Amino acid sequence: MSKDDPAPDAPYYLENGGEVALFEQCHRRQLAVMLKGPTGCGKTRFVEYMAWRLQRPLITISCHDDLSTSDLVGRFLIGAAGTAWHDGPLTRAVREGAICYLDEVVEARQDTVVVLHPLSDHRRMLPIDKTGDTVAAAPGFQLVVSYNPGYQRMLKDMKPSTRQRFVAFDFDFPPPEREAAIVAHEGQVEPSLAIALVTLGTRLRQLRDRGLAEVPSTRLLIAAARLIGGGIPVADACYAAIVAPLSDEPALVGAMRDLVGASFV
Ligand SMILES: Nc1ncnc2c1ncn2[C@@H]1O[C@H](COP(=O)(O)OP(=O)(O)OP(=O)(O)O)[C@@H](O)[C@H]1O
Ligand SMILES: [Mg+2]
Repeated sequence: MSKDDPAPDAPYYLENGGEVALFEQCHRRQLAVMLKGPTGCGKTRFVEYMAWRLQRPLITISCHDDLSTSDLVGRFLIGAAGTAWHDGPLTRAVREGAICYLDEVVEARQDTVVVLHPLSDHRRMLPIDKTGDTVAAAPGFQLVVSYNPGYQRMLKDMKPSTRQRFVAFDFDFPPPEREAAIVAHEGQVEPSLAIALVTLGTRLRQLRDRGLAEVPSTRLLIAAARLIGGGIPVADACYAAIVAPLSDEPALVGAMRDLVGASFV
């Protein structure tokens, strides 16, 4: 299988500009990667695509504030045959040489995230305190973290000593023509409908200045496309998939409904 000749199981990913080559270099040079960007803009899809392209297994961990070091590294469990050690997902990734993707890493407590430090610098080691072992990362192991900056994150941020271990990729919504191609492909709709949805999305994103805290992501535009493709009337689909998820505020909902009406006449 050649990289330029995508196999049928290649995840669909439309490149924005240079991120594929940059990621490949990071992988080759054993550099950890941080993907920053708003919800639904393609971070997870990019990692899935890169794992496929680099032919590495992908192990994804969703971070939350109860996540403990044991959840990542592993724990002793009591079974029929006595007590046995069970690797956590991070340890499995380290042993297998997988790409380990920690989604929404700022949700994890800082004392949990510290376990990543020796893995994300030249040491490439995972010390397992509970067993006394130190596992060297297999070739191909790569740490990738994602987060959504400026998202009610006044109190939560990463320590500088964590941040500075990663090469950062800035993600954002693609330019309109590219976003329309993505919506058409993923929503399985005609290009003209995809363009109309992206035009609506662009207008709705401008409501940020009028207080809309969450603006529509590519994911929401795709959801609307799928509903319309399934036969739901355009206005209903846009309301259910785009307007209602974004706000409960009557004035903003009204403004968004008006934009939907003006976009599909
Ligand atoms: N560049 C792209 N190429 C192909 N599909 C894309 C691209 N960008 C976005 N998408 C589509 O948008 C959807 C949402 O993207 P994805 O799940 O990767 O977002 P995300 O940035 O990981 O969001 P979150 O922060 O909420 O996890 C994908 O399932 C895919 O259909
Ligand atoms: Mg994601």
